[in-house]
Amino acid sequence: MDKNDKIKIGIVGMGLMGWQYAEVIRSLPDAELKWICEINDEKLHSASTHFTVDGYLDFKEVPLDNTDAVIIATPDNYHLEPALFFAQAKKHILVEKPLATSVQDGMAIIEASESSGVKLMVGHILRFDPRYVVVKQRIESGEIGDIIHMYARRNNLLSNAIRIGGRTSPLFFLAIHDIDILCWLKGAPPVKVFSIATSKLLRSLNTYDSAFLLLEWKDGTIGCIETSWVMPDYSPTGLDCQLEIVGERGAVHLRIDNQNLQIFKEKSEFPDTSYHLVLYDKAFGILRAEVEHFLDCIKNGKELAISAEEALLAVKIAAAAHKSIEEKKGVEI
Ligand SMILES: NC(=O)c1ccc[n+]([C@@H]2O[C@H](COP(=O)([O-])OP(=O)(O)OC[C@H]3O[C@@H](n4cnc5c(N)ncnc54)[C@H](O)[C@@H]3O)[C@@H](O)[C@H]2O)c1
Repeated sequence: MDKNDKIKIGIVGMGLMGWQYAEVIRSLPDAELKWICEINDEKLHSASTHFTVDGYLDFKEVPLDNTDAVIIATPDNYHLEPALFFAQAKKHILVEKPLATSVQDGMAIIEASESSGVKLMVGHILRFDPRYVVVKQRIESGEIGDIIHMYARRNNLLSNAIRIGGRTSPLFFLAIHDIDILCWLKGAPPVKVFSIATSKLLRSLNTYDSAFLLLEWKDGTIGCIETSWVMPDYSPTGLDCQLEIVGERGAVHLRIDNQNLQIFKEKSEFPDTSYHLVLYDKAFGILRAEVEHFLDCIKNGKELAISAEEALLAVKIAAAAHKSIEEKKGVEI
């Protein structure tokens, strides 16, 4: 590929994220949206009309000769098949988090991308969120000293859990973000996880409502992650997140529940203004930064900020946490 060529992109899965990715791609000067793929007829028709792009129901039918890279935005448990197909077709891959919902599937995706020599990036979006990046920089500068303990929370609305329909768990869908962040901040994998979870509202969907994870590192650092997707829908914030790092010489607190924008009406809202928004017909925000990084690495042969092994580690920890919940005991990682 010539450095001046636009990178030809296809998107698999035109749900919430696929739609946002399409808005990002059509806003970037270095990229061109060549096709979209969606198994749901109605969704495919509406997205291909909106983005004036060719649409396919089956990812095996897309024009491979007109594709440099794909974005896989299918549900958590449907990443494997398209990822293997496009890796074998030698297309660079940006796959949404989690890499997979089992360690075995994650390893298969990594092996396929490595043997084809393509880039594989997992959309751990917080790595591009300036608030989390500043936390990382301040820890790396040594100003708070060695980490003693870490706490992270990610709570989401019940309607989101129902939309996702039990196809995954709050650990793979939500906590995976914070699992990755704690490992990244600590710069090492934990050695053990203990987790408990409960299922009351979502029992019929065969998934957990809420889970707590306790993590332990070799040097004695401890971590705690709280995750839930049963916050009431009348809660004004769609996402209630926190991060607290306590070190030997200081602490860092990060809180995301409102973005300094509050809309008061029958159902009050604190809308997101950071991750993805469209201003003057162009997409802006953290999702755009994530995609720009992916394209920059493809074009200029740079190393990805998130390695496939780090994404696999997050899957290993989430899988170990599931095992801990089932076996009611700590699990070594
Ligand atoms: N980074 C973030 O902040 C963030 C936020 C939400 C979701 N996600 C992740 O993005 C992914 C998608 O989530 P979503 O919320 O957009 O889900 P969604 O259900 O809204 O969309 C997924 C779409 O994929 C389609 N699909 C399923 N199998 C397909 C196939 N084989 N070929 C083509 N299309 C197929 C579905 O019909 C659906 O329209 C998940 O992995 C999720 O964890 C990330």
